[in-house]
Amino acid sequence: MHVFRTKSVERSIQDTDEPGHRLRRDLSALDLTVFGVGVIIGTGIFVLTGEVAKEKSGPAVALSFVAAAIACALAALCYAEFASTVPVAGSAYTFSFATLGELPAWIIGWDLVLELALAAATVAVGWSGYARTLLSDLGWDLPTSVAGEHATFNIPAALIVLIVTGVLILGVKISSRVNAVIVAIKIAVVLFVIIAGLFFIKGANYHPFVPKAVPTPEAHGGKTPLIQVIFGFLPSTYGWAGIFAGAAIVFFAFIGFDIVATAAEETKKPQRDLPVGIIASLAICTTLYVAVSLVVVGIQNYRQLSVDAPLADAFKAIGHSGFATIVSVGALAGLTTVVLILLLGQSRVFFAMSRDGLLPAWLAKVHPKYGTPARMTVIIGVIVAAIAGLVPLSALADLVNIGTLFAFVVVSVGVVLLRRTRPDLERSFRVPASPLVPVLSVLACVYLMLNLPVETWIRFVAWMLIGFVIYFGYGYAHSRAGKPSVESR
Ligand code: ALA
Repeated sequence: MHVFRTKSVERSIQDTDEPGHRLRRDLSALDLTVFGVGVIIGTGIFVLTGEVAKEKSGPAVALSFVAAAIACALAALCYAEFASTVPVAGSAYTFSFATLGELPAWIIGWDLVLELALAAATVAVGWSGYARTLLSDLGWDLPTSVAGEHATFNIPAALIVLIVTGVLILGVKISSRVNAVIVAIKIAVVLFVIIAGLFFIKGANYHPFVPKAVPTPEAHGGKTPLIQVIFGFLPSTYGWAGIFAGAAIVFFAFIGFDIVATAAEETKKPQRDLPVGIIASLAICTTLYVAVSLVVVGIQNYRQLSVDAPLADAFKAIGHSGFATIVSVGALAGLTTVVLILLLGQSRVFFAMSRDGLLPAWLAKVHPKYGTPARMTVIIGVIVAAIAGLVPLSALADLVNIGTLFAFVVVSVGVVLLRRTRPDLERSFRVPASPLVPVLSVLACVYLMLNLPVETWIRFVAWMLIGFVIYFGYGYAHSRAGKPSVESR
């Protein structure tokens, strides 16, 4: 069947050299790690830690982070092998085109919009919340109609997206420099929370570390995790089940390491630098998350933690408002880099898709002066800014998680398939103990997906159906995979 036509790895790499469609190669392993950390540390640690500790895992929220990190580490090994074998823009999209075929690749590309564009809009709304808090500390209260969750049009959220879009158009090297400075501030603030917080920890707050499970009959209908519906479990919070339910939520905090792979085409030595960048950024973030979450539940009892700004509010609760302001500024800077890299990833995935003809080719044109896919970036930026301005996205964050986990599953399957179909390809990084690690990765990701609510699954399926309509209405007929390759034209 044509929908399963694949695009060879050689052709994928060759396409990157096509005139007018060539991206600049100037990123190193360190740049990639900074990119990774820049997009990974964000809303997850700054916001979700409080909600998860309070409502799911108690002081054991650090264990939720560890559980999510294990799933991500397994997937990261698979991403690293793929990225080092197929070093081309487009991440999971490109990988699936080389292994599973055109339709699965389209599905993944479409699915990645959830992870990238939707997450960028979500984080921008979070950014506007922090901006509003900080401005009000300075005595300037923005009306609720133009900022925050319930705004008619959320001006700061739309604005930050447009500013970041401008930076991306000017070029990756500039973006990565801007990013490096902000990432440094963000890490400094995270370390500040850990070190300053150490002095205020009360041992009593750690008892019991894993609170006893309590039934939560109020969780029903669309809000029930699919796993409970399938197995008829009684909904409960805390206990070990709570730790895993929490893991499905804090998974959001790890989203981003895979985006490093989307910059493959702009990396100097992708075979060596990509695996280093992916794995190093994941390791750094996991360490910081475990430390931060242990400190925060030590400062303030988990039942009292705030769900909006838990890190800042924990310091406020012990009478250190100045510390809280420092944390808020760091969060603001931190969330900016997250939006930046999510948008970068989104433009690169669409870039790869339109180069393949699955989206209109004129979109993929590279700007002659800046060397970036400017047209694509502008269009995505404007749409994401509109979504961020108009939609309160808190409920849709789960949709970001399910979309990302689905991509991880496909990549893990792809790594095993590519070993079978193309054992000859050079792999500078190989997943250890394949196929065991990829299989464990699939199981861990599916398990986390099952812990997400029924309504999230429904939205996910609906989004995918829209994707099918677009593919059969446009992509199938325009795909370049069925046409002769560039050199034979
Ligand atoms: N991992 C990113 C965050 O926590 C998406 O905001």
